[in-house]
Amino acid sequence: MHRGGGEDKIDIKMIESYREDEIQALIVLAELTGPVETANNNFYRFYPKSMEEAQTYFRRFALDLSTAFETLARKGLLRKENDEWLLTRAVKVIAGDVRRHRPPIWYWYKDFYTAIEHSQAYSEYCRLVFGKDLGQHGFSDINQIHRMLEIIRPDETSHVLDIGCGNGKMAEYISDLTQASVTGVDYIAEAIDQALKRTEGKRNRLHFKVSNIEALDCKDESFDVILSIDSIYFDEPKTVLASWKRLLKPTGEMAVFYLSLDGSDLSIPLKENGLSYDAYDISKQNWEHQQLKHRVVSEMRKAFADEGNTFIWENLMAESIASPEPYNPDVSSMKRYLYHVKKH
Ligand SMILES: C[S@@+](CC[C@H](N)C(=O)[O-])C[C@H]1O[C@@H](n2cnc3c(N)ncnc32)[C@H](O)[C@@H]1O
Repeated sequence: MHRGGGEDKIDIKMIESYREDEIQALIVLAELTGPVETANNNFYRFYPKSMEEAQTYFRRFALDLSTAFETLARKGLLRKENDEWLLTRAVKVIAGDVRRHRPPIWYWYKDFYTAIEHSQAYSEYCRLVFGKDLGQHGFSDINQIHRMLEIIRPDETSHVLDIGCGNGKMAEYISDLTQASVTGVDYIAEAIDQALKRTEGKRNRLHFKVSNIEALDCKDESFDVILSIDSIYFDEPKTVLASWKRLLKPTGEMAVFYLSLDGSDLSIPLKENGLSYDAYDISKQNWEHQQLKHRVVSEMRKAFADEGNTFIWENLMAESIASPEPYNPDVSSMKRYLYHVKKH
Protein backbone atom coordinates (compact mmCIF):
# COMPACT_ATOMS: atom_id res chain seq x y z
CA MET A 1 0.00 0.00 0.00
CA HIS A 2 2.76 2.46 0.88
CA ARG A 3 5.81 0.45 0.25
CA GLY A 4 7.38 -2.37 -1.62
CA GLY A 5 10.88 -3.42 -0.60
CA GLY A 6 11.63 -0.52 1.75
CA GLU A 7 12.07 2.02 -1.06
CA ASP A 8 8.79 3.96 -0.86
CA LYS A 9 8.17 6.50 1.83
CA ILE A 10 5.97 6.12 4.84
CA ASP A 11 2.80 8.15 4.65
CA ILE A 12 3.63 10.38 7.63
CA LYS A 13 0.29 12.20 7.60
CA MET A 14 -1.52 8.90 8.01
CA ILE A 15 -0.31 8.56 11.59
CA GLU A 16 -1.95 11.84 12.56
CA SER A 17 -5.36 10.30 12.05
CA TYR A 18 -4.84 8.03 15.09
CA ARG A 19 -4.86 8.84 18.80
CA GLU A 20 -1.67 8.06 20.71
CA ASP A 21 -3.27 5.08 22.49
CA GLU A 22 -4.46 3.76 19.11
CA ILE A 23 -0.94 4.15 17.72
CA GLN A 24 0.44 2.21 20.68
CA ALA A 25 -2.20 -0.52 20.26
CA LEU A 26 -1.32 -0.89 16.57
CA ILE A 27 2.41 -1.07 17.36
CA VAL A 28 1.86 -3.66 20.12
CA LEU A 29 -0.13 -5.86 17.76
CA ALA A 30 2.36 -5.35 14.93
CA GLU A 31 5.18 -6.44 17.24
CA LEU A 32 3.30 -9.40 18.69
CA THR A 33 2.25 -10.70 15.30
CA GLY A 34 5.78 -10.61 13.87
CA PRO A 35 8.67 -8.26 14.64
CA VAL A 36 9.00 -5.33 12.26
CA GLU A 37 12.44 -4.99 10.71
CA THR A 38 13.43 -1.47 9.74
CA ALA A 39 16.62 -0.21 8.16
CA ASN A 40 17.06 2.61 10.66
CA ASN A 41 16.27 0.51 13.63
CA ASN A 42 18.60 -2.47 13.63
CA PHE A 43 20.15 -1.43 16.89
CA TYR A 44 16.80 -1.54 18.65
CA ARG A 45 15.68 -5.07 17.89
CA PHE A 46 12.62 -5.90 19.90
CA TYR A 47 10.87 -9.26 20.04
CA PRO A 48 8.17 -9.08 22.71
CA LYS A 49 6.35 -12.23 23.80
CA SER A 50 3.48 -10.70 25.77
CA MET A 51 1.29 -7.62 25.85
CA GLU A 52 3.14 -6.34 28.94
CA GLU A 53 6.53 -6.85 27.33
CA ALA A 54 5.36 -5.14 24.14
CA GLN A 55 4.29 -2.10 26.13
CA THR A 56 7.82 -1.51 27.48
CA TYR A 57 8.44 -0.16 23.95
CA PHE A 58 6.71 3.07 25.00
CA ARG A 59 8.83 3.61 28.10
CA ARG A 60 7.20 6.08 30.50
CA PHE A 61 4.67 7.06 27.82
CA ALA A 62 2.89 3.66 27.82
CA LEU A 63 -0.89 4.17 27.94
CA ASP A 64 -3.81 2.01 28.99
CA LEU A 65 -4.80 0.44 25.69
CA SER A 66 -8.18 -1.07 26.53
CA THR A 67 -10.23 1.76 24.97
CA ALA A 68 -7.94 1.88 21.94
CA PHE A 69 -8.56 -1.79 21.14
CA GLU A 70 -12.29 -1.16 21.35
CA THR A 71 -12.26 1.93 19.11
CA LEU A 72 -9.94 0.32 16.55
CA ALA A 73 -12.31 -2.68 16.50
CA ARG A 74 -15.30 -0.40 15.94
CA LYS A 75 -13.44 1.15 12.98
CA GLY A 76 -13.01 -2.37 11.59
CA LEU A 77 -9.25 -2.42 12.07
CA LEU A 78 -9.12 -5.17 14.70
CA ARG A 79 -11.10 -8.27 15.47
CA LYS A 80 -11.32 -10.48 18.50
CA GLU A 81 -10.74 -14.21 18.28
CA ASN A 82 -10.71 -16.54 21.31
CA ASP A 83 -10.49 -13.49 23.55
CA GLU A 84 -7.41 -12.19 21.71
CA TRP A 85 -7.15 -9.05 19.62
CA LEU A 86 -5.89 -9.55 16.09
CA LEU A 87 -5.10 -7.16 13.27
CA THR A 88 -7.21 -7.55 10.18
CA ARG A 89 -5.09 -8.47 7.20
CA ALA A 90 -5.32 -5.03 5.54
CA VAL A 91 -4.45 -3.29 8.77
CA LYS A 92 -1.23 -5.27 9.20
CA VAL A 93 0.34 -3.02 6.55
CA ILE A 94 -0.86 0.14 8.27
CA ALA A 95 0.34 -1.14 11.64
CA GLY A 96 3.75 -1.88 10.12
CA ASP A 97 3.92 1.68 8.78
CA VAL A 98 2.94 3.13 12.13
CA ARG A 99 5.61 0.98 13.75
CA ARG A 100 8.23 2.20 11.27
CA HIS A 101 7.22 5.80 11.85
CA ARG A 102 7.40 5.40 15.60
CA PRO A 103 10.43 3.18 16.19
CA PRO A 104 11.56 2.55 19.78
CA ILE A 105 14.23 5.21 19.34
CA TRP A 106 11.45 7.79 18.89
CA TYR A 107 10.13 6.97 22.37
CA TRP A 108 13.69 6.90 23.68
CA TYR A 109 14.33 10.44 22.39
CA LYS A 110 10.97 11.58 23.78
CA ASP A 111 12.07 10.27 27.17
CA PHE A 112 15.54 11.76 26.77
CA TYR A 113 14.49 15.32 25.85
CA THR A 114 11.82 15.32 28.56
CA ALA A 115 14.42 14.23 31.11
CA ILE A 116 17.26 16.57 30.16
CA GLU A 117 15.10 19.71 30.37
CA HIS A 118 15.69 19.79 34.12
CA SER A 119 18.72 17.51 34.48
CA GLN A 120 21.66 19.09 36.29
CA ALA A 121 23.69 15.94 35.63
CA TYR A 122 23.20 16.21 31.87
CA SER A 123 24.03 19.87 31.87
CA GLU A 124 27.25 19.17 33.79
CA TYR A 125 28.09 16.28 31.45
CA CYS A 126 27.69 18.57 28.39
CA ARG A 127 29.87 21.29 29.91
CA LEU A 128 32.64 18.82 30.73
CA VAL A 129 32.51 16.78 27.53
CA PHE A 130 31.41 19.24 24.83
CA GLY A 131 32.85 22.42 26.37
CA LYS A 132 29.38 23.99 26.62
CA ASP A 133 25.87 22.86 27.54
CA LEU A 134 23.98 22.93 24.26
CA GLY A 135 21.87 19.86 25.08
CA GLN A 136 24.03 17.82 22.71
CA HIS A 137 23.31 14.19 22.03
CA GLY A 138 25.99 13.51 19.52
CA PHE A 139 29.75 13.64 19.16
CA SER A 140 30.40 17.23 18.07
CA ASP A 141 32.18 19.19 20.77
CA ILE A 142 32.46 22.94 20.63
CA ASN A 143 35.78 22.80 18.75
CA GLN A 144 34.20 20.72 15.98
CA ILE A 145 31.26 23.14 15.81
CA HIS A 146 33.57 26.15 15.51
CA ARG A 147 35.58 24.39 12.83
CA MET A 148 32.36 23.77 10.91
CA LEU A 149 31.39 27.45 11.24
CA GLU A 150 34.81 28.54 9.94
CA ILE A 151 34.20 26.38 6.87
CA ILE A 152 30.63 27.40 6.06
CA ARG A 153 30.74 30.96 7.46
CA PRO A 154 27.03 31.73 7.85
CA ASP A 155 26.16 35.39 8.46
CA GLU A 156 23.12 37.59 9.00
CA THR A 157 22.05 37.05 5.37
CA SER A 158 22.06 33.24 5.67
CA HIS A 159 18.98 31.07 5.97
CA VAL A 160 20.11 27.93 7.81
CA LEU A 161 18.27 24.63 8.43
CA ASP A 162 19.41 22.53 11.41
CA ILE A 163 18.11 19.00 10.88
CA GLY A 164 17.66 16.91 14.03
CA CYS A 165 18.06 20.03 16.17
CA GLY A 166 16.86 18.42 19.43
CA ASN A 167 16.01 21.12 21.98
CA GLY A 168 17.48 23.77 19.67
CA LYS A 169 20.25 25.04 21.93
CA MET A 170 22.84 24.49 19.20
CA ALA A 171 20.70 26.33 16.62
CA GLU A 172 20.32 29.19 19.08
CA TYR A 173 24.05 29.27 19.80
CA ILE A 174 24.89 29.40 16.09
CA SER A 175 22.32 32.10 15.42
CA ASP A 176 23.49 34.19 18.39
CA LEU A 177 27.07 33.90 17.20
CA THR A 178 26.53 34.58 13.50
CA GLN A 179 23.16 36.40 13.42
CA ALA A 180 22.04 33.89 10.78
CA SER A 181 18.37 33.01 10.60
CA VAL A 182 18.15 29.38 11.75
CA THR A 183 15.24 26.96 11.46
CA GLY A 184 15.51 23.82 13.59
CA VAL A 185 13.51 20.66 12.90
CA ASP A 186 13.19 17.52 14.97
CA TYR A 187 10.53 14.83 15.31
CA ILE A 188 10.30 15.08 19.11
CA ALA A 189 7.56 17.58 19.99
CA GLU A 190 8.78 17.96 23.59
CA ALA A 191 12.22 19.10 22.36
CA ILE A 192 10.71 21.57 19.89
CA ASP A 193 8.36 22.96 22.58
CA GLN A 194 11.36 23.64 24.81
CA ALA A 195 13.17 25.35 21.92
CA LEU A 196 10.15 27.53 21.09
CA LYS A 197 9.60 28.62 24.69
CA ARG A 198 13.27 29.38 25.32
CA THR A 199 13.71 31.46 22.16
CA GLU A 200 10.41 33.36 22.20
CA GLY A 201 12.21 36.72 22.11
CA LYS A 202 14.36 35.73 19.12
CA ARG A 203 11.64 34.77 16.64
CA ASN A 204 13.06 37.24 14.09
CA ARG A 205 15.93 34.80 13.49
CA LEU A 206 15.02 31.50 15.20
CA HIS A 207 12.26 29.12 14.12
CA PHE A 208 11.51 25.56 15.16
CA LYS A 209 9.09 22.94 13.99
CA VAL A 210 8.22 19.32 14.55
CA SER A 211 9.04 17.46 11.38
CA ASN A 212 10.28 14.04 10.35
CA ILE A 213 13.53 13.78 8.37
CA GLU A 214 11.77 11.19 6.23
CA ALA A 215 9.24 13.79 5.06
CA LEU A 216 10.59 17.21 5.87
CA ASP A 217 7.79 19.69 6.04
CA CYS A 218 9.47 22.88 4.82
CA LYS A 219 6.84 23.87 2.26
CA ASP A 220 8.28 26.30 -0.28
CA GLU A 221 11.29 27.26 1.81
CA SER A 222 14.83 26.88 0.53
CA PHE A 223 18.04 27.27 2.48
CA ASP A 224 21.57 28.62 2.02
CA VAL A 225 22.94 26.13 4.52
CA ILE A 226 21.80 22.78 5.87
CA LEU A 227 23.40 21.50 9.07
CA SER A 228 23.26 17.84 9.98
CA ILE A 229 24.98 17.42 13.31
CA ASP A 230 24.81 13.69 13.86
CA SER A 231 21.38 13.31 12.34
CA ILE A 232 22.05 11.37 9.13
CA TYR A 233 21.95 7.91 10.70
CA PHE A 234 18.22 7.29 10.74
CA ASP A 235 17.41 6.51 7.12
CA GLU A 236 19.20 5.45 3.96
CA PRO A 237 21.87 8.20 3.28
CA LYS A 238 21.29 8.35 -0.49
CA THR A 239 17.58 9.12 -0.03
CA VAL A 240 18.19 11.50 2.85
CA LEU A 241 20.83 13.49 0.93
CA ALA A 242 18.54 13.67 -2.11
CA SER A 243 15.75 15.20 -0.04
CA TRP A 244 18.12 17.66 1.63
CA LYS A 245 19.56 18.67 -1.76
CA ARG A 246 16.06 19.62 -2.88
CA LEU A 247 15.82 22.03 0.07
CA LEU A 248 19.01 23.89 -0.84
CA LYS A 249 19.17 27.05 -2.93
CA PRO A 250 21.22 26.62 -6.14
CA THR A 251 24.30 28.04 -4.37
CA GLY A 252 23.51 26.22 -1.12
CA GLU A 253 25.87 24.19 1.06
CA MET A 254 25.62 21.50 3.71
CA ALA A 255 27.76 20.61 6.70
CA VAL A 256 27.30 16.98 7.68
CA PHE A 257 28.95 15.28 10.65
CA TYR A 258 29.21 11.54 10.13
CA LEU A 259 30.47 8.87 12.51
CA SER A 260 31.27 5.51 10.97
CA LEU A 261 31.59 2.35 13.03
CA ASP A 262 32.01 0.05 10.04
CA GLY A 263 34.43 1.89 7.76
CA SER A 264 31.64 3.30 5.59
CA ASP A 265 31.61 6.92 4.52
CA LEU A 266 29.29 9.20 2.60
CA SER A 267 31.34 9.45 -0.60
CA ILE A 268 29.12 7.10 -2.62
CA PRO A 269 25.71 8.58 -1.67
CA LEU A 270 27.12 12.10 -2.14
CA LYS A 271 28.40 11.26 -5.64
CA GLU A 272 25.17 9.42 -6.50
CA ASN A 273 23.36 12.67 -5.75
CA GLY A 274 25.75 14.72 -7.92
CA LEU A 275 26.97 16.65 -4.89
CA SER A 276 30.55 17.92 -4.69
CA TYR A 277 32.24 17.88 -1.32
CA ASP A 278 35.33 18.19 0.85
CA ALA A 279 35.71 15.61 3.59
CA TYR A 280 37.60 16.53 6.76
CA ASP A 281 38.86 13.54 8.69
CA ILE A 282 38.22 14.25 12.36
CA SER A 283 38.66 10.66 13.56
CA LYS A 284 41.44 11.52 16.00
CA GLN A 285 39.50 14.38 17.61
CA ASN A 286 36.53 12.02 17.87
CA TRP A 287 38.65 9.36 19.56
CA GLU A 288 39.90 11.91 22.10
CA HIS A 289 36.38 13.18 22.60
CA GLN A 290 35.10 9.67 23.28
CA GLN A 291 37.89 8.98 25.75
CA LEU A 292 37.02 12.15 27.64
CA LYS A 293 33.36 11.14 27.51
CA HIS A 294 34.17 7.80 29.07
CA ARG A 295 36.22 9.35 31.88
CA VAL A 296 33.58 11.94 32.70
CA VAL A 297 30.56 9.64 32.47
CA SER A 298 32.22 6.91 34.56
CA GLU A 299 32.27 9.36 37.46
CA MET A 300 28.65 10.44 37.02
CA ARG A 301 26.66 7.27 37.63
CA LYS A 302 25.25 8.45 40.96
CA ALA A 303 24.43 11.94 39.68
CA PHE A 304 22.25 10.44 36.91
CA ALA A 305 20.76 7.76 39.20
CA ASP A 306 19.77 10.36 41.82
CA GLU A 307 17.70 12.10 39.14
CA GLY A 308 16.10 8.84 37.97
CA ASN A 309 18.02 9.12 34.71
CA THR A 310 20.11 5.96 34.74
CA PHE A 311 18.87 5.19 31.22
CA ILE A 312 20.79 8.24 29.97
CA TRP A 313 23.92 7.24 31.87
CA GLU A 314 23.78 3.76 30.32
CA ASN A 315 23.43 5.24 26.85
CA LEU A 316 26.39 7.57 27.34
CA MET A 317 28.56 4.75 28.68
CA ALA A 318 27.68 2.62 25.66
CA GLU A 319 28.54 5.48 23.30
CA SER A 320 31.97 6.22 24.76
CA ILE A 321 35.21 4.28 24.50
CA ALA A 322 37.69 3.31 27.17
CA SER A 323 40.95 2.41 25.50
CA PRO A 324 44.23 2.66 27.41
CA GLU A 325 46.12 2.65 24.08
CA PRO A 326 47.00 5.88 22.26
CA TYR A 327 45.08 6.64 19.07
CA ASN A 328 46.20 4.56 16.12
CA PRO A 329 44.50 5.28 12.78
CA ASP A 330 45.46 1.84 11.46
CA VAL A 331 43.76 0.05 14.33
CA SER A 332 40.77 2.23 15.07
CA SER A 333 37.73 1.16 13.09
CA MET A 334 35.84 4.25 14.15
CA LYS A 335 36.01 7.03 11.58
CA ARG A 336 34.52 10.47 11.77
CA TYR A 337 34.20 13.02 9.01
CA LEU A 338 32.90 16.50 8.60
CA TYR A 339 31.58 16.88 5.05
CA HIS A 340 31.35 20.28 3.44
CA VAL A 341 28.91 19.69 0.60
CA LYS A 342 28.07 22.01 -2.27
CA LYS A 343 25.03 21.77 -4.48
CA HIS A 344 27.10 22.82 -7.48
C1 LIG B 1 22.21 11.99 17.68
S1 LIG B 1 20.97 13.20 17.98
C2 LIG B 1 21.80 14.68 17.51
C3 LIG B 1 21.15 15.89 18.12
C4 LIG B 1 21.90 17.21 17.89
N1 LIG B 1 21.98 17.57 16.48
C5 LIG B 1 23.27 17.13 18.50
O1 LIG B 1 24.26 17.07 17.78
O2 LIG B 1 23.36 17.10 19.73
C6 LIG B 1 19.84 12.91 16.64
C7 LIG B 1 18.66 13.86 16.62
O3 LIG B 1 17.90 13.59 15.45
C8 LIG B 1 16.51 13.50 15.80
N2 LIG B 1 15.90 12.56 14.83
C9 LIG B 1 16.17 11.25 14.65
N3 LIG B 1 15.44 10.72 13.67
C10 LIG B 1 14.66 11.73 13.21
C11 LIG B 1 13.69 11.81 12.19
N4 LIG B 1 13.34 10.75 11.47
N5 LIG B 1 13.11 13.00 11.98
C12 LIG B 1 13.43 14.11 12.71
N6 LIG B 1 14.35 14.09 13.70
C13 LIG B 1 14.96 12.91 13.94
C14 LIG B 1 16.48 13.00 17.23
O4 LIG B 1 15.28 13.33 17.89
C15 LIG B 1 17.71 13.71 17.81
O5 LIG B 1 17.36 14.99 18.29
